[in-house]
Amino acid sequence: MPIFQKTSQPDHSVDFANLPRHVAIIMDGNGRWAKKRGLPRTAGHAAGAETFRTIATYCKEIGLDYLTVYAFSTENWKRPQDEVNAIMGLLKKYLLESIEKMERDRVKMAFFGDLSPLTPELRALCQRTQEISKNYEGCQVNICLNYGGRDEITRAVRGIAADWLKEGRDPASITEQDITSRLFSAGVPDPDLIIRPSGEIRTSNFLLWQSAYSEYYFTDVLWPDFTKEELIKAIGAFQKRSRRFGGV
Ligand code: IPE
Ligand code: IPE
Ligand code: MG
Repeated sequence: MPIFQKTSQPDHSVDFANLPRHVAIIMDGNGRWAKKRGLPRTAGHAAGAETFRTIATYCKEIGLDYLTVYAFSTENWKRPQDEVNAIMGLLKKYLLESIEKMERDRVKMAFFGDLSPLTPELRALCQRTQEISKNYEGCQVNICLNYGGRDEITRAVRGIAADWLKEGRDPASITEQDITSRLFSAGVPDPDLIIRPSGEIRTSNFLLWQSAYSEYYFTDVLWPDFTKEELIKAIGAFQKRSRRFGGV
């Protein structure tokens, strides 16, 4: 009898009573998904938006407290204008549909990032989405839009400098909490688990401050192909890790 039995199925069992409190996802791989199918990149973004809806609803269903997704980075403006326009168009469509289904889905939504370069119409839709859903219980979904970790920290530092100048305080009294409380994520616990699909092994400027002790999970699956089962697989892997936070 072999001591170890090889099974074709890895163990994806998850303890639903001990879920990570906050899961964050870098929704990457839309373009490659489309290319593989001979479709324009935009088709990948449309498929990715559907995956997001499915995963967000599922997170609420299983009882996650927070889901944060990277939708558009401060660097993504470098892309061809047509692609940026298409992404913004899809965002508008997504928000309009979400507002329509809001009373049914009851997912609380927030936005991380500087929304000022968005069109007034899109900005208003983001605000409305946030406003309507602000009292919903259960999972809070944070959408990172024109978000960059460095930009977020820079803004926090500017805020501290301005306040300190006014108040004439000693710079030596600045604490980590002074930074944390000025981030877009103020009040939201740090992500326990950060998932990056699409095979890239980098953070691409996502939640730089908040990820100090996050567990990372990388998979080759492209975002539009990401499923509830993939999420469960990631949570299962997370639950087997030993988090020490610098201790023993
Ligand atoms: C992620 O997918 C979506 C955004 C960055 C807006 P990509 O568009 O980066 O897809 P790939 O990485 O090119 O496949
Ligand atoms: C990160 O993906 C940003 C989002 C998923 C929104 P990118 O595709 O922009 O990252 P890089 O360029 O591969 O690092
Ligand atoms: Mg990409």
